[in-house]
Amino acid sequence: MRDLSALLAQMTIEEKVGQLMLLSVNFFGTDTELTGPAQEWGLSPEELSRVGGCLGGKDADTVRKIQEKHLASDRNKIPLMFMNDVIHGFRTIYPINLGLSCSFDPELVGECTRMSAKEAAAGGVHLSFAPMIDLARDARWGRVMESSGEDKILASALGAAQVKAYQGEDLTSSEHIAACVKHFAAYGAGESGRDYNTVDMSERTLREFYLPAYKACIDAGVKMLMTAFNSLNGLPATVNPLLMKQILREEWGYDGVVVSDWGAIYELTVHGVAGDLRDAARLAFDNGCHIDMCSKAYYQNLSRLVREGVIPESDLDDAVMKILTLKDELGLFENPYHGADVEKGYLSPEHRAIARRAATESAVLLKNDGTLPFSKDVRRVAIVGPFADDHGIIGVWASKGKKEESVTVAEGVRALLPNAEIVTARGCGNTHTDTDESGFAEAIELARGADAVIICVGEHAHYGGEANSRTSLDLPGVQAEFVKAITAVNGNSAVLLFNTRPLSLVNIYDASPAILDMFFPGTEGGNAAAELLFGEANPSGKLSMSFPKSVGQCPIYYNRMLSGRPKVSLPDEEYQAFSNGYIDCGSRPLFFFGEGLSYTSFEYKSMELDSHELDASGKIRVSVTVKNTGDRAGKEVVQLYIRDIVSSTIRPVQELFDFCKISLEAGEEKTVVFEITEPRLRFWDAQCRHISEPGEFSLFVGYADHPIISDSFRLVEGK
Ligand code: GLC
Repeated sequence: MRDLSALLAQMTIEEKVGQLMLLSVNFFGTDTELTGPAQEWGLSPEELSRVGGCLGGKDADTVRKIQEKHLASDRNKIPLMFMNDVIHGFRTIYPINLGLSCSFDPELVGECTRMSAKEAAAGGVHLSFAPMIDLARDARWGRVMESSGEDKILASALGAAQVKAYQGEDLTSSEHIAACVKHFAAYGAGESGRDYNTVDMSERTLREFYLPAYKACIDAGVKMLMTAFNSLNGLPATVNPLLMKQILREEWGYDGVVVSDWGAIYELTVHGVAGDLRDAARLAFDNGCHIDMCSKAYYQNLSRLVREGVIPESDLDDAVMKILTLKDELGLFENPYHGADVEKGYLSPEHRAIARRAATESAVLLKNDGTLPFSKDVRRVAIVGPFADDHGIIGVWASKGKKEESVTVAEGVRALLPNAEIVTARGCGNTHTDTDESGFAEAIELARGADAVIICVGEHAHYGGEANSRTSLDLPGVQAEFVKAITAVNGNSAVLLFNTRPLSLVNIYDASPAILDMFFPGTEGGNAAAELLFGEANPSGKLSMSFPKSVGQCPIYYNRMLSGRPKVSLPDEEYQAFSNGYIDCGSRPLFFFGEGLSYTSFEYKSMELDSHELDASGKIRVSVTVKNTGDRAGKEVVQLYIRDIVSSTIRPVQELFDFCKISLEAGEEKTVVFEITEPRLRFWDAQCRHISEPGEFSLFVGYADHPIISDSFRLVEGK
């Protein structure tokens, strides 16, 4: 590591402030990929030469040109750090993270991320604004698409896997980049499922459910953290001392870099907690936000605040030193281009294979009356619906991924069945304004004469992501009618779903013999879909987010509290007087967290505890034996749930304690061992203490609300 103190000592205050500025790439040159409102500030060349970070720039040539020009102009020769949103792949695109999280496979997530880091580094990226691990319990929110779903254990495991995979063991490596965990904190809890919206929750709920995944990423060594747009309990997250000082610094000991989200420091004046940009800059800096992303607050005010003694120059030095240190860890002083190279590995057969496996293992089989898998001996296959032959299944926010490089469903099926006749018809649109049914007739005729029918419906890709919340979870437009019209003429049909969020599928459930959810599967989506539909691959995904029956149930999540009058009558649709149900809908989701079918069957033969008593220093080993009782290989996600039966504070009816995905050949059985220890039983009580309490715990294997084998144990002493 180089002596950065000497460098810092020679810098003027303005040069130090420059290092705290992150500007979009249009300030620097040709590229114009914007992920926020465009800006033009009329910076002088000297002012631009002092800037520390560039947001955007995704090809080696652009990055090299900008870096060269920058280094030639900067007196201190401090390299720019190129930061980008590499969200679900760089050029080889894997499923959107909500889909990938359904793989329940941290290894696979790590492999996808390593591939992404390698390609992004070659494209000149130094840091990715990922993982996004905001807990998501409200499907109306557009950014559930980027999340790892509704459970803290799953989000923590997958977030940590991404951090380690992006960063590797040596950040100077041309195959690794720095990671940035986001959005701190509780961004997914916006009121009414609306983006950027107010968040108000107890500190207990925040700590119990919403914070663990950020902590997991910090424990995994993440180099940067991004603050969220939303307010939390009356204070914008960026200037919320509970988050930024007490929890992040004092309790967690995070000493990495903190960056605001796009314009979030300026937005303090919109929230109304800062009277002007000077106030905003002071507040944000005082709360430990080091980098101002795309706002003028630091640029216009920080130097003066330091000169006036409002901000000690030593604090400014500390912030700048963190950024210089990260640039040094990336090796940028020695090699300011990091991994920027020709298109290394983009879309290589190895990378396409990783993307295909990810798409295959993320898909969730929601319903199957035996129709799937289709026989490969079919002569004629009709592929109908808006996504039948659509490259848009690559998904949005796909970095440098190109639609035309993706494999559509029709292309995938043709490649798998070269001797079959494959006919396609779009049939209808996929947005809520598409009400035209005139295309139904053609699709119905194709379906009528086919041996197998694939009905490709879902949400337009842009229905997910930032600022894209919905008030409905139905299939947009007339797609539900389309599904029913097709299955009415050919029962050998399967619905293939493309969605950015959990959808309400009650309108098509009964009419659909089978429903396979692909989410937005990325570059290899069509090949993965073909392999799954025709049995070359066996679905193994499990939902990482509950699928509601109705948008009126949102937010809905599996680890709910009971209330004093829970609705317990079954069937779920039945009205139960004086209960916390609804008069017009059940209170359970249509599809549960952890749910997903397979083409084979698994028998949970036993769950054995080596003890039924646990003390503060001991552990209980839970051995679960699962057998593949079907006639084909498959993968199963063994899920262990736990419940604290009586506690000083109300506890969820069930919580995912741990999970493990295993592969089983036909007839094979394996035993998975989970370990329960007292620290893993701790929770945040009503006084916001992180404690465990002695008492009875029940546990089961299966999936949410669907225990297969149950047992219990006692914690004899709490902490
Ligand atoms: C956007 C997003 C954030 C992203 C940033 C930079 O507004 O909220 O997730 O990383 O700006 O593009």
